Amino acid sequence: MSGHRIAVIPGDGIGKEVVPAGLEALHATASRFGISLQLDEFGFASADYWQRHGTMMPADWEETLRGYDAVFFGAVGWPEVVPDHVSLWGSLLQIRRTFDQYVNLRPCRLMPGVRSPLADREPGDIDFVVVRENTEGEYSSVGGRVFEGTERETVLQETVMTRTGVDRVLRFAYEQAARRPARHLMSATKSNGISISMPYWDERVAEMGGRFPDVRVDKLHIDALAAQFVLHPDRFDVVVASNLFGDILSDLGPACAGTLGIAPSANINPERDHPSLFEPVHGSAPDIAGQGIANPVGQIWCASMMLEHLGHPEAAAHLLGAIEDVLALGPAEAPLTPDLHGKGTTVELARAIADRVRERS
Ligand code: NAI
Ligand code: MG
Repeated sequence: MSGHRIAVIPGDGIGKEVVPAGLEALHATASRFGISLQLDEFGFASADYWQRHGTMMPADWEETLRGYDAVFFGAVGWPEVVPDHVSLWGSLLQIRRTFDQYVNLRPCRLMPGVRSPLADREPGDIDFVVVRENTEGEYSSVGGRVFEGTERETVLQETVMTRTGVDRVLRFAYEQAARRPARHLMSATKSNGISISMPYWDERVAEMGGRFPDVRVDKLHIDALAAQFVLHPDRFDVVVASNLFGDILSDLGPACAGTLGIAPSANINPERDHPSLFEPVHGSAPDIAGQGIANPVGQIWCASMMLEHLGHPEAAAHLLGAIEDVLALGPAEAPLTPDLHGKGTTVELARAIADRVRERS
């Protein structure tokens, strides 16, 4: 049986602690479902690599990673050694763009045993995914400065929306919605204020909707939508947004669902022309790195998303169920990490989840 080839990049800080934890849960799930995996670990995209080589990644990184089915990524960034814009642009952002990972997918689910910062919210109340356009939109480098340093100093930066770029992310979002029980898509817009690009976005949303008659679609201006995330998170199922709006919503969503430590994300190239990359939402957390107390759940949930992407939905659901079972036990019964009000370590929590993967029916 030919296995899936996975490139593993731990990166910096707690990335080096949560990636092994994620792999333990991944191995437990793969062996239970008879999935064969070939894993290769790489030390680049880290401050250590930068100190030795003066770059974040080797010149041939693209050829190296191209042959893999997926990249399992920890976190990159160690500001004491490399400025953050250098480490990020020198690694993760290059990978996302080169591999045309045009969907950034972030599930937001309030897990049992996790306290939401929103009052009186329970598991089941928050369960939606944010689909963010990841390659164009507001994050273009089209523009410039003229008359610098004078009274006429002028700065311009353009939003770029291409029909190809908009349609492909909308199609992905509609497909996600069509597969979920609620079959609802919410589009983030601002066509009242941004009077050229956002009406275009709305037009494409309506046009694409014609191909998905079973999906109910709504739109909300981004300001009202952000307020609704906090006031009525239960209204949402799939949310689709441009690069900037999606960036903001995909931090706000997981924040409403509790700790940063459990939030996963996927950078996806849906056509599979290039590998997709799975990474927790959090960074390298220098303040707790080396203490063995980082929450591994975000990374383990990434393993579940990766299994789903590789065509193993039952295995993915089984692993997510194991995470839920262990979190639901609460800090008294399970070795939850300090951010979940427990006294457990990264290794203990990962072991508990891997054990649960083997035990649960
Ligand atoms: P961060 O996400 O690393 O940490 C923010 C806060 O959350 C810290 O107090 C940290 O201890 C806590 N935290 C994060 N993950 C946790 C976990 N798994 N368990 C328990 N607590 C956790 O964000 P910060 O501090 O702004 O950035 C630190 C470094 O990480 C920077 O170099 C930054 O550029 C980088 N970064 C990298 C990302 C990536 O690789 N995609 C994403 C975000 C930041
Ligand atoms: Mg962000």
